[in-house]
Amino acid sequence: MSIEASEPATVTLPAIAFLGAGAMAGAVISGLRRPGVVVDGGIRTTNRTAGKAATFAGVDGITAYATESDAAANRRAVVGAKLVVVAVKPAMVPDLLREIAGVLEPGTVVVSVAAGVTVATFEELLPASVSVIRSMPNTPAVVGRAVTGVSAGTRSSDEDLALAVTMFETVGEVLVVPESQLDALSTISGSGPAYVFYLIEQFTATAIGKGFTPEQAALMVQGTFRGASELLATSGEDPAELRRRVTSPKGTTERAVAVLEEAALEQIFDRATDAALARAREMAAGA
Ligand SMILES: NC(=O)c1ccc[n+]([C@@H]2O[C@H](COP(=O)([O-])OP(=O)(O)OC[C@H]3O[C@@H](n4cnc5c(N)ncnc54)[C@H](OP(=O)(O)O)[C@@H]3O)[C@@H](O)[C@H]2O)c1
Repeated sequence: MSIEASEPATVTLPAIAFLGAGAMAGAVISGLRRPGVVVDGGIRTTNRTAGKAATFAGVDGITAYATESDAAANRRAVVGAKLVVVAVKPAMVPDLLREIAGVLEPGTVVVSVAAGVTVATFEELLPASVSVIRSMPNTPAVVGRAVTGVSAGTRSSDEDLALAVTMFETVGEVLVVPESQLDALSTISGSGPAYVFYLIEQFTATAIGKGFTPEQAALMVQGTFRGASELLATSGEDPAELRRRVTSPKGTTERAVAVLEEAALEQIFDRATDAALARAREMAAGA
């Protein structure tokens, strides 16, 4: 019996405009350009500078606009787009929404990736005929391994939410949560890659301290993080169980873990994420 490689399932999305095609939008666009994903009607991107727009100009299926050469770039890009992804920096969102509000077609789904900007702000600045979805992706979107939180707006339908979910699923996993939980989600998966990189930095310094070269230390630490994550993902086991399997009674790992337990990491993570949440509230209040 021959085993044939299965074709990736085809996902079809309607025309999408990315306003502010920087790092995060670029990551989502790379997911949309994978085999098996069709964006019917094409992708439009906008940037301020022609230099940045050039990243996308000439790419098949993408029409790139720059506001410095075409003042109407954002308004032009949204015409005919069913999904409009707002990916400029949070402080720039209100001006951008005022700019496009008059030309958005009824039934357009505006998807925000802007950290901390509420659905209420979007809905206030956009016509009632347009629905809003708020999201929080994370940087592993660049390699198709994002975790994205997605929240419905007060005017969005199940179909609107499903469109946004499908779009973000092209770059990883998606969790639908009420907007009230999105800032908390952001303190876990949004900021989470930074926590992991920080742990890797510290652990690498320890390996160097044990006499290894930076290259050897990087290989050991990064390989261990990657290997342990893959093992966790494929084994179907609980992390605590996998940890127990590495920790023989009276062995060396047991001694090391006992020291780590003294550090009360759970409390540290509680405090770190509480600090991030407090900052999100300050930012929402304009501080
Ligand atoms: N990076 C992350 O990890 C992450 C995670 C979750 C959410 N987000 C959110 O994603 C958004 C973008 O972040 P980013 O890291 O992708 O920033 P970024 O790389 O600086 O991208 C922002 C882009 O917006 C463009 N832009 C600015 N004003 C514009 C305007 N009026 N019209 C059209 N384009 C405009 C900029 O173009 P020029 O360069 O030409 O000025 C730039 O390419 C932020 O709201 C952030 O909160 C980011």
